[in-house]
Amino acid sequence: MRRQLFSCILLICILSACSGLPTGQQPATPQATTVQKAPHATPTHKGPKTLRDLADARHIHIGAAVNLDALQHDHDYSRVLSDEFNAVTPETAMKFDALQPQPGDYTFQQADAFVNYAHQHGMVPRGHTLVWYSALPPWLQNGSYSRDQLMYILKDYITKVVTHYKGQINVWDVVNEAVDDDTGQLSDSIWLRGIGPDYIDMAFRWAHEANPQAQLFYNDYGTEWSSKKFDGVYSLLQGLIQRGVPINGVGMQMHMHTQFYPDNATVLQNMQRFADLGLKIDITEMDVLTSETKVDMPTTLKIQADIYGTVVKDCLQIKVCQSIVFWGFTDRYTWVHSDLHRDSDQPLIFDKDYRHKPAYDAIVQALKTP
Ligand code: G3I
Repeated sequence: MRRQLFSCILLICILSACSGLPTGQQPATPQATTVQKAPHATPTHKGPKTLRDLADARHIHIGAAVNLDALQHDHDYSRVLSDEFNAVTPETAMKFDALQPQPGDYTFQQADAFVNYAHQHGMVPRGHTLVWYSALPPWLQNGSYSRDQLMYILKDYITKVVTHYKGQINVWDVVNEAVDDDTGQLSDSIWLRGIGPDYIDMAFRWAHEANPQAQLFYNDYGTEWSSKKFDGVYSLLQGLIQRGVPINGVGMQMHMHTQFYPDNATVLQNMQRFADLGLKIDITEMDVLTSETKVDMPTTLKIQADIYGTVVKDCLQIKVCQSIVFWGFTDRYTWVHSDLHRDSDQPLIFDKDYRHKPAYDAIVQALKTP
């Protein structure tokens, strides 16, 4: 599906006759990347303000998806992560295949290590993600279950996981990517096939029962465009709210590409339409892919910086948007290499040697803008 995500972005581009730069400016040759101290250097207290300093000052969360293997084996990764961010999302450690690899056998060790790291560094952990069509263990993906059995499995899972982290995790991506990119209808999954469309209502209600204090989100990609996808997600959320389902917010993943991205008026309009439903908006998985660029890399990195800076400014402009999470933070570790097999892509805000890219500087400027 990650490939579909990428091809979805490509498809949207072709269909929507993508616009120019978000800011409408011609790409200028970016300033030389700010040369950072050698990665091993630990920023002194008097060093330049980090993203975390700037976000704390604005009382917003700025975070990154965490690759647990890198966290446990790459000291620079851990240092930069805690220096620069005040929020973290587990990239894979809290998915169904990680937490219940065998029926009834809950394995929380890795996810607990993630939560402990977050709390040790004063960072807000996000629960990602309870219900998805992907990252399912073979016993579930390939099993044959009645509706009642599948409901039991899902309720047991949500209840045990949310209860396990009660008091430690207070924001959950309850349902992830349940709307079809092209039709705007509910997308195929074992949950839809086995339980029916009300699996989504059930998931939110079970999560709320397990932790009434938790903020519960629906999370998806492609909702920054004027598209059937956006309309489908909007309609889903409207229905949940009308049925009194306990939902607090929507995660806009913001997986973007330097060659095609929506005009900024559409991004803002969609954010405002979600906000007008009474929902919080979190930017949950932002990255800006660079592969297959048609211009030179310095120009590509400038376009990337414009996109990052524009989306951060958009979030700051929408009162109920108070969290911006990037899907990773260094080009050394990105799903785009491992999952999309685009090894030359540079989608994130630090390069593979933990040096700031123009995107980092654009985010700093956006966070400094009153
Ligand atoms: O841990 C195993 C390893 O033991 C094995 O050798 C290796 C090769 O098969 O696979 C490893 O698991 C991989 C896992 O990432 C950890 O690296 C899975 O195959 C791989 O599918 C998984 O990909 C993750 C994907 O979600 C599915 O969980 C990506 O890293 C992660 O970035 C991606 O994140 C999703 C969000 O959760 C939802 N939104 C879209 C986003 C991108 O697809």
